[in-house]
Amino acid sequence: MDQAYFITESLRLNRFWLQIMSEHALFIREGLPCGETQLINEARQFEQLFAALKARADQTPNNREAVLALNRDVIPALDRFIAFKTNVLNRTITCRIGGFNYPLLMDHIRREAIRFRARLLELNNGISSPLAEMALEEEIFWLRIMGDHARFIAHLLDPSERPLVKQAQQFGKSFETLRLQGEDLQSMLVPRDYENHLLPADIMGCPLPPGFGNLQHPFVIPRLQRFNGEVIGATMEIRDFKATALALIERCQVLSLISPLLASHVLREAQMALEDLAMIERQLNKDRAE
Ligand SMILES: [Fe+2]
Ligand SMILES: [Fe+2]
Repeated sequence: MDQAYFITESLRLNRFWLQIMSEHALFIREGLPCGETQLINEARQFEQLFAALKARADQTPNNREAVLALNRDVIPALDRFIAFKTNVLNRTITCRIGGFNYPLLMDHIRREAIRFRARLLELNNGISSPLAEMALEEEIFWLRIMGDHARFIAHLLDPSERPLVKQAQQFGKSFETLRLQGEDLQSMLVPRDYENHLLPADIMGCPLPPGFGNLQHPFVIPRLQRFNGEVIGATMEIRDFKATALALIERCQVLSLISPLLASHVLREAQMALEDLAMIERQLNKDRAE
């Protein structure tokens, strides 16, 4: 892996996602029942831990050793945070805790943490996927995240805000349609990914059983460029919708349970999605030119 890419990509991801992780801890804390003092304290510690790591990432020089060390410290912090999110999620879905954290929100923020950790592990170990596989993974990840955001917004707006609720639900549907198209393209172009889903999750990381893993290698087709463009277009639309929502929330002109921080959080994630998707676009263009 190119050294400059390792450094800039690690810093780009850390400087964005560490702030996001600290905010997740705050959202979980605010949604917990006030009697859950142990979990509330743990959440507060994660808030501080990730804020400190974010401050460190901002100061980390463009130096391979410093970046490697930062990634190495962030990964175990993410291990613990993923376990914490899992604990809150599992207690919620088995009705052993109340509060205001939707199960899908807990799953959503755990997915964001799992992917951030996977990216850092790939960077530290010099692993990269073929372009078609990477493009579809990024697109499907973000389509699901953007669709979830649309549904969270619809469910956190006051029911009296009928046109805005409807608009948010419409976004949810558009992102789900695009995600299904992404999954169709994924099984056409990356059949090994589909095959991997059919195997028990526990087998990941073990040698594949005989007969598996000999499906075709992923490949790029022109349709992928058009698909990436469609995903970018939809993401720009929801980014603008979120920017409008944030402005309304800040001016107290809309009735909802959405805090300005949550509105800004989902807006920043849409901006990050556009950055990631633009990187894919550049690589698809380069691949086509070659
Ligand atoms: Fe998030
Ligand atoms: Fe999110």
